[in-house]
Parts: sequence; structure tokens; C-alpha cells
Amino acid sequence: MKCSERDTEPLRIQDSPARDDLRKTMERAEKKQNEYHLEQDLYRTLANSSQVGVYILQDRTFQFVNPHIAEYAGYREEEMVGMESLSLIHPDDRRLARKNAIRMLKGQRFSPYEFRIITRDGRIKWIMETSTPIYYKGKRAVLGNSMNITGQKEARNRLEELEALESSILDAIPHAVVGLHNRRFIFANNAVQTVFGWFPEELIGRSVRLIYCSDEDCDKIARLFYDNLEKHRTYSTEFLCRHKDGHDLICMMRASRIGERLTEGRIVVTYEDITERKQAEKELEASREQMRNLSIHLQSVREEERARIAREIHDELGQSLTAFKMDLSWLAKRMAQDEQLHGKIKAMSGLVDQTIESVHRISTDLRPGLLDDLGLVAAMEWQAKDFSSRSGIACEADLYAEEVPLEKDLATAIFRIFQETLTNVARHAGATKIFVRLEAKDGQVILEVTDNGRGISRKQINDPKSFGIMGMRERALLWGGNVQVTGSRYKGTTVTVSIPMKSRGEE
Ligand SMILES: Nc1ncnc2c1ncn2[C@@H]1O[C@H](COP(=O)(O)OP(=O)(O)OP(=O)(O)O)[C@@H](O)[C@H]1O
Ligand SMILES: [Mg+2]
Repeated sequence: MKCSERDTEPLRIQDSPARDDLRKTMERAEKKQNEYHLEQDLYRTLANSSQVGVYILQDRTFQFVNPHIAEYAGYREEEMVGMESLSLIHPDDRRLARKNAIRMLKGQRFSPYEFRIITRDGRIKWIMETSTPIYYKGKRAVLGNSMNITGQKEARNRLEELEALESSILDAIPHAVVGLHNRRFIFANNAVQTVFGWFPEELIGRSVRLIYCSDEDCDKIARLFYDNLEKHRTYSTEFLCRHKDGHDLICMMRASRIGERLTEGRIVVTYEDITERKQAEKELEASREQMRNLSIHLQSVREEERARIAREIHDELGQSLTAFKMDLSWLAKRMAQDEQLHGKIKAMSGLVDQTIESVHRISTDLRPGLLDDLGLVAAMEWQAKDFSSRSGIACEADLYAEEVPLEKDLATAIFRIFQETLTNVARHAGATKIFVRLEAKDGQVILEVTDNGRGISRKQINDPKSFGIMGMRERALLWGGNVQVTGSRYKGTTVTVSIPMKSRGEE
């Protein structure tokens, strides 16, 4: 539609004082209206741009919510307007949240209160809120300011959980655990009472000197810890400490610095009372020593006994048999020419020769005289030759230990181990050749016997019924040595014995 100029021309009112007043009043009203709208816009802009949730409630329903609230609650702003505010709150928290809001509105509470809401998609969020009474559109209303504190709350819960976990770990540790700051206790677990007799609260703030025997000890251990913890994260040592009642205790102490660096001398130290364990270890070691000595004694008694029997057999039987043989030849010379009788005497003399040889062999088996007279190397050479001739197994021996003076009992031990290895080769290996090496190297005497037989398995080596191998091991162990047996199928077996040469008195 087209308007004529006349239609659009403003209404002209004739000038007069009354009209002036009216115009002024209208202008004032318009200005006020503008100011009111400006104010409204300002508040709305403030509320909308706020990082805090802002809402207005009237009759328990939302009249206004800013975008922040809508965002954390998961609704659109227009959906929330008209919604009952309590419906957003977690059912378990509704009563308390309402009570707190009322108290705040009445001026009975000043600090913000917390509660949970359930978002549109069913998640739970923690909210912290304040409420203020206001007038809105001419009626009483509530202005709410709220913050989503879910993140902080979760972090706080996690921290609380961690703290609870930490204190239960500390209490579950049977050792005393203390935190130190410049040698003063900053925390202590309950076990300090068991270990040192002090209650944790008696220690806090006091010097760590309380649990050491002297000022010197305290300085010494502090230096040890701080020097080592400069370079390493943890450090442990055994140290003498003192109980509240004055008795001393040996502690295994493990220290570690708090944080990455040793700033301000903050460290954590655990103390394990090992006094009883140390005592038990000492007793065990003493009884092992006794057992070792007893075993050595028994071995040497056995060897002496064998040597005595060997001598007796050799001397007594040998001499009697020789006399017997001489008597037989005396008889033969004086007897009449009787073929049958002479044949008998010859046979008897042959038998006596065999018996003499047997006696000789038995006595040497019991205790080779060479071992006592000429030493280990000579005895081993003789034993190797004897073994070869008896078993038909070729034996190559490199025995380099002549110059080493070995204690008699140690020489016997090595010789007996050697005999056992030879017996095993003869009985089990099916070998055609053995190689024996004896040498003194790096303070150890080493015996190695290798055969080219069927080999020994790990199971056979470790079989608890392998008494021969076990016996070798024990003999070596008595002298602080060890025996290693290795073998591979059809490629032979090697027994290596290493024993320190120092005499037992030097241990
Ligand atoms: N040189 C070897 N070659 C192959 N097998 C071996 C050898 N030496 C030992 N064994 C195996 O290891 C087992 C254990 O040897 P060990 O000397 O302990 O016992 P044993 O010779 O059977 O009996 P014992 O020595 O008590 O009379 C043997 O039964 C044998 O099977
Ligand atoms: Mg054996």
C-alpha cells in the first residue's frame, strides 16, 4: 500500500505550556523505560556471560537460567524455564539442599552448600551453591549462584582415598616407617611403637637422635643417608638403634628421599628389627661350623682307621703269608720225591702268592700308601694307571699341582673325589677314554675329569638319590669348594671340582 505524504506527516500539536509539560513527562517516562531496558540487558548479559550458574526461582520453578547452568545440567535454557528446581537435584540430597537454601535465605547460613544433581543424560554432578532473596517482576524470588565442582570433588575424593590408602599401607607395614625433615620426625606409623617403644605422637617434631645410641651414631647415619641419597633414590644399611627402654636393636634401615630431589633433607626411613634374625643367623652359622668340623673330624677318623687297617692287613697278613710261603718252600725242599705232594705244594704256593697280591690290593684300596708318602699327584698317577689297567679305559692325565703344598686332609678329600669320578666312569659312562687335569690356579685347586661316554642328564645330577655325587659335593663343601657336573648326551661327562687352597685355619 502506498501512503501519501499527508498520511505519514506527524501529528502537530499547537505549542502551549500544558503541552510542554506533557511532552517532558513523556520524555522522562521514555528515558526511564530506556534505562530500565538497558539495566535489564546489562543484567541479562552479565548472567549469560558468567562462568557461574545463575538462575531465578519463583514458586520453586525456574524463571530464568543462564547458559552455564543449562550446559552442566544438559538441558536447553528454554527447557529449564518452568521446570521445578528440586527435580534436578539427586533424590538423596533434596531435603538437605532445600534446608540449606532456606537457612541461607533467612540469613542463618553464610557458607555455600553442596549437593548432587542428575543431568539430563543421567550423570551425577556435584554443585556448590548460594541463594539470595530478590524481587523479580514485582514478586519475591530467589537468585541462585551455582558452580559445577564435580572435578574438584572427584579430585578431593581421590586424594582422600589416597590418604586413607597411604595410612593403611603405613599401618600394614610391620616395620617402623618415619618421615624426617632435617632429622626431625614429621610422621611415624603405628609400628614405631612395636619396634622402638615410642608412640607415633611422642616422636612428631622431635629429633631422630631419640632412636639411636649416641650423638655420634646419629651424625654418622645421617651423613650416610644424606650423602647416598644425593646420588641415589634409595639407600639401605644395617645399623644399631636404641629402644625407648634403653636396649639396643639391630635394624635394617631403608631410606628414600621424598620427591625427586633431596630438598630440605626430607626423607622416609623404614626400620626393620632384625636383632633376632641376626642372632639366629649367628647361631645357624655356628652350628654349621660345628657340623663342618664334626664332619671333617669323622672323615679324618675314617681315613685314619682305613690307614690303620690297611697297615695291619699289609704288615700282619703280608708278613704271615710270606712266612707261610717260605715254610712251604722249606717243606718242598725236604719232602720225598712225590709228584702229587710237590704238585700240591706248588699249587698252595701259587695260592699264597695270589693271596699276598689280594692283601696288597685290599690295603692299597683302603688307603694308598703313596698318598701319605709321596702326596696327591703321585697317588692320582698311580690311581689313574691302575684304573686304566683294570677297566681298559685309556686315561690321559695332566697333573700340574706338584708344587702346591696341600693339607693332608684336603689332599685326601680330592683323592677320594677323584676315586668316585673314576668309579662312576667305569660303572655308568661306557667311555673309552678319560682326561684328567689337576691344577692350582687363582688360589684354587681344580680337578677336572672328562670322559667320552654316554653323558649324564640334569635329572641324574640333581637326583636326591645320587649319593655318590652328593658325597663329592659335601666333601668339597667342607673345604669351602664346589663340584660341578655337566654332561651332554653321547658327548661325555665332565666333573669339575674347585676348592680354595687356603688352609681351614685361615677361613
Ligand atoms: N661319568 C658318568 N657318565 C654317565 N652317567 C653318569 C656318570 N657319573 C654318574 N652318572 C649317572 O649319575 C647317577 C648318579 O651317580 P652317583 O655316583 O651319585 O650314584 P651311583 O654311582 O649310581 O651310586 P653310588 O655312587 O652311590 O654307588 C648314576 O647312577 C649314573 O646314572
Ligand atoms: Mg657313584
